[in-house]
Amino acid sequence: MSCSWFGVWPLAALITLAWIGGCECQINYRLSTNVRPSLYNLSISLRDNTIVPNSPATKFDGEVSITLQTSLADVKEITLHKDVTLTIIQCVLYDAAGKQVQEVNNARLTSVEEAQQLTVGLNQALTANVNYTLFFKYFGNIQTDTVGLFSASYIDEAAMQTKWVLLTQMQPINARLVFPCFDEPTFKAKFQLSITRPDSLHAISNTKLEKTTSEGNNRFTDHFEVTPIMSPYLLAFVVSEYQMRGNSTLSIHTRPAYNQYTEFSYSVAKRVLPAYGELFQQPYQELGNDVLQYATTPRFPHNSMENWGLVIFKDKVLLEQPGVTDGWAQKEFTIRNIVHENAHMWFGNSVTCKWWSSIWLHEGFARYYEFFMGHKLYPEYQLDQQFVVHKLQHVLTTDSLNITQPMTSAEVSIQTPADIDYKFGRISFAKAASVIRMWCLAMGEENFNRAIANYLKEFYLGNTYPSDLLKHIGENWPDQIYVNLNQFFYDFTVQVGYPLVTVSLSYSGHQINFYQQRFLLNDTDGSDSKLTYTVPITYTTNLAPNFTNSTPAFFFAKLVDIYQRWSDEPIDWVIVNLKQANYHRVRYEQPLLGNIQKVLTKSGHSGIPNENRAAIIDDLFNIALAQIIDYVEVFEFMEYMSTETDYIPWYAAYVGLEKVARRLTPQQLPNFKKYLSDITEAVHAKLGVSWSASDKVLDVYNRNQQVSWLCKYQTSNCTAQVLEKFNGSEKPSPDYRETFYCAAARTDGYDRVLELYKKETNYIDREIYWRAASCTRDYRTHYQNQILGQGNSVDLKMVGLAQLYEQNPDLVTPIFQMVTENISQLNDALGFNWAKTAQALSDMAEYFTTREQQQLFSNFYKQSHTSFGSSAETLNQALTKVEANVQWAEQRLGKLVNFLAQRNGAGGLAMASSLALVLSTILILLFR
Ligand SMILES: *[C@@H]1O[C@H](CO)[C@@H](O)[C@H](O)[C@H]1NC(C)=O
Ligand SMILES: *[C@@H]1O[C@H](CO)[C@@H](O)[C@H](O)[C@H]1NC(C)=O
Ligand SMILES: *[C@@H]1O[C@H](CO)[C@@H](O)[C@H](O)[C@H]1NC(C)=O
Ligand SMILES: *[C@@H]1O[C@H](CO)[C@@H](O)[C@H](O)[C@H]1NC(C)=O
Ligand SMILES: *[C@@H]1O[C@H](CO)[C@@H](O)[C@H](O)[C@H]1NC(C)=O
Ligand SMILES: *[C@@H]1O[C@H](CO)[C@@H](O)[C@H](O)[C@H]1NC(C)=O
Ligand SMILES: [Zn+2]
Repeated sequence: MSCSWFGVWPLAALITLAWIGGCECQINYRLSTNVRPSLYNLSISLRDNTIVPNSPATKFDGEVSITLQTSLADVKEITLHKDVTLTIIQCVLYDAAGKQVQEVNNARLTSVEEAQQLTVGLNQALTANVNYTLFFKYFGNIQTDTVGLFSASYIDEAAMQTKWVLLTQMQPINARLVFPCFDEPTFKAKFQLSITRPDSLHAISNTKLEKTTSEGNNRFTDHFEVTPIMSPYLLAFVVSEYQMRGNSTLSIHTRPAYNQYTEFSYSVAKRVLPAYGELFQQPYQELGNDVLQYATTPRFPHNSMENWGLVIFKDKVLLEQPGVTDGWAQKEFTIRNIVHENAHMWFGNSVTCKWWSSIWLHEGFARYYEFFMGHKLYPEYQLDQQFVVHKLQHVLTTDSLNITQPMTSAEVSIQTPADIDYKFGRISFAKAASVIRMWCLAMGEENFNRAIANYLKEFYLGNTYPSDLLKHIGENWPDQIYVNLNQFFYDFTVQVGYPLVTVSLSYSGHQINFYQQRFLLNDTDGSDSKLTYTVPITYTTNLAPNFTNSTPAFFFAKLVDIYQRWSDEPIDWVIVNLKQANYHRVRYEQPLLGNIQKVLTKSGHSGIPNENRAAIIDDLFNIALAQIIDYVEVFEFMEYMSTETDYIPWYAAYVGLEKVARRLTPQQLPNFKKYLSDITEAVHAKLGVSWSASDKVLDVYNRNQQVSWLCKYQTSNCTAQVLEKFNGSEKPSPDYRETFYCAAARTDGYDRVLELYKKETNYIDREIYWRAASCTRDYRTHYQNQILGQGNSVDLKMVGLAQLYEQNPDLVTPIFQMVTENISQLNDALGFNWAKTAQALSDMAEYFTTREQQQLFSNFYKQSHTSFGSSAETLNQALTKVEANVQWAEQRLGKLVNFLAQRNGAGGLAMASSLALVLSTILILLFR
């Protein structure tokens, strides 16, 4: 699965859920392993009214025959999963010869709703080791939510008609919404599906269509081939009026109007399967299913889902419309999703985790290959480097808070549906991928690949624990790299968190000292600060710089406090954690940090790679956030960036800067703006504001982030330069549209960008133009005419209002005043919805930075909170948040603010810039 939302559930929320969910009477969510199914013969019958425009059917009919057996004597009941939305009409037990053993009447069927379980009471014990068939006739719901079997609609523009598609999402525990089954990953079985449907629709499922039979009355039944042995959550089908690209073994299915846009996706699909087959030494077809189909849907809970043989994607993932959605970022999105889901055919579908508590065995590998197989096939995206800033550095933040969780949870701790959802978070995806990368680089890629191929071979169609993987890693671990492998594995998979390795030089540069402690962003949030780790240490020095050797120089043992390395020649600088291959942060003590900064300003940054430059920046910001150093030290270090032109370090820098910049007051912004302008000198000179066909991918991404920041803070004449380009006739490339039009809309371009929005019919483009138009500094006009006015959806109005202040940080106070002058106007415009109105104000308050703003908000609350009814609580919470934010800035940014002022000559800029502000306001007035 590939999530569009990688949340980590706060523990408190989970506890509450578990509480509301049940009682303290021990509900057992797990099935006993007494009885095991081997084959499901499942018939789904769609009713005739299934596709009536505007109202699809709400029910379907089903029959399932489950072949099962027990190895025990004395089994007198069978418990399996069945959701409350399935209604059983008949239940019969047959023996292997097909003779009826018992018709199970209703009185012998008992349910535990909470656990979605059904127990079938038998008159006699089952005979051990012989097959029985348990038959159910039932009907169920076509869900309105995106679980189980559900419907989605789209407008067929050619026919001017609403069309429906029926599709499934079973992972993790929704197969039980479609048929009674043993809905846990270890209960693997074969599935033989048939679907009865009206003439006008056609059906696809995991496997090849075997035959279609007529049922009369324009109804047909499609019979699909038996699947390989697999977990129930992998079953899927799609019933639609789609068109297909490809052939009987590799195809993409989408609505007819989109078929022309799937050419690129198809080319990716063609490349990726053979590449995996070779890497894993097991071709896809040999896993047991010779077809692979992709289908798209307008409605889906995730970006994509890896059903064996039938991967389902959100529409937007697979479609590249020339000149519109075929930019680099969109292609990267397509590539990554396809590469990710295809990895699951091996990791998840063939080899499956024993229980959801170690779902990282699927998602960690899928995420890892998404980037590293993606990099091999499409090197121009430099996904190997992007991984470091987008995934590794991102999850390091999550993993330094008490809300984190281990990669491998105790099986008993993951029971309820909420527990299972909780495992599908960042730790199982990004941390696992990062730790897998660490293993690979430490042991060497060849050894790693051999271990993986052996693991996949040994557990083909089976279920595994993390220890099964460790065994193969151990068998292929190079003898000369000494480490307690069990401990190393345990420390990063069962333990939470990771270490900060502090590095210093002593004895005039002859000695390097390493020291470890757990890295925590808040050491009073209940986290265990005493945890230590078996840490692979890689480093290089100015004496013989080499950043490609990822073999650990040594492992930091758990119980050792400090390691020292002696060098006969004095060392000037040392860089630790080459390419940020290992899962830890590094802190360089002064004067070492200063020395590193100096060499970074030299030509080619002295060979120090992108990943390490980004790591140093990201680590510094986080070490400051954790209050170990002051932000001044970070900003001083970042002066080196006036020579930095690469996307990867800049990405890390902007993630860090965002947290600080958002807390600066309007009075402090001019000095920040000068700083930003100075450190972006080289990159702005290199990339400018104009695009070119010969741009490299990461340069395209980089220009986007630079122009967004520079124009937002109105530095380096950014806006003026964009405006000049905007007045020409050339249209920006798809990747650049939003940034470019946003910058243009800040001044003169507003009317024209708004016009583009109004003329556009494609909904993706409309939103891009809308977001861009909403960057205008003429907030009154936009608010009065577009947000309070008619004609734009409530969702767009919310987005548009947020853009106004997010994109013009100096204007948040007047925007708040304007909106709160007459709050009921906004409430009317948002569909008479006080909850949304409160949310809009609470979102805005997140950008408050001063005591004056806090006072304004507090006064507003006193006067108006009664209008908000129960949503006043949202405002109240926002007020608390404002207090915390302002306090944080007062406590943590004081020195930085002084530093920035002194750097610019004692605050002289404040005056000049407020004058500029007045001028620009006058200009806006003149131009209207
Ligand atoms: C039970 O049924 C399964 C699935 O049809 C079959 O593979 C297996 O051989 C049968 N076992 C026995 C003991 O007949
Ligand atoms: C279908 O197309 C794929 C990709 O071009 C090709 O590898 C495969 O052999 C084709 N299968 C058939 C049955 O033609
Ligand atoms: C740290 O966590 C504690 C306990 O949850 C909390 O009260 C405090 O506000 C947090 N500190 C910061 C800086 O977030
Ligand atoms: C921190 O996490 C631990 C382990 O999950 C938990 O037991 C503890 O209650 C949490 N502490 C706080 C203050 O949230
Ligand atoms: C760097 O180290 C790698 C791996 O040990 C080695 O293959 C390579 O030759 C070294 N490069 C230089 C410039 O020494
Ligand atoms: C920015 O504008 C100023 C004053 O308008 C001008 O002196 C300067 O050369 C411009 N800089 C760039 C990079 O265009
Ligand atoms: Zn996945």
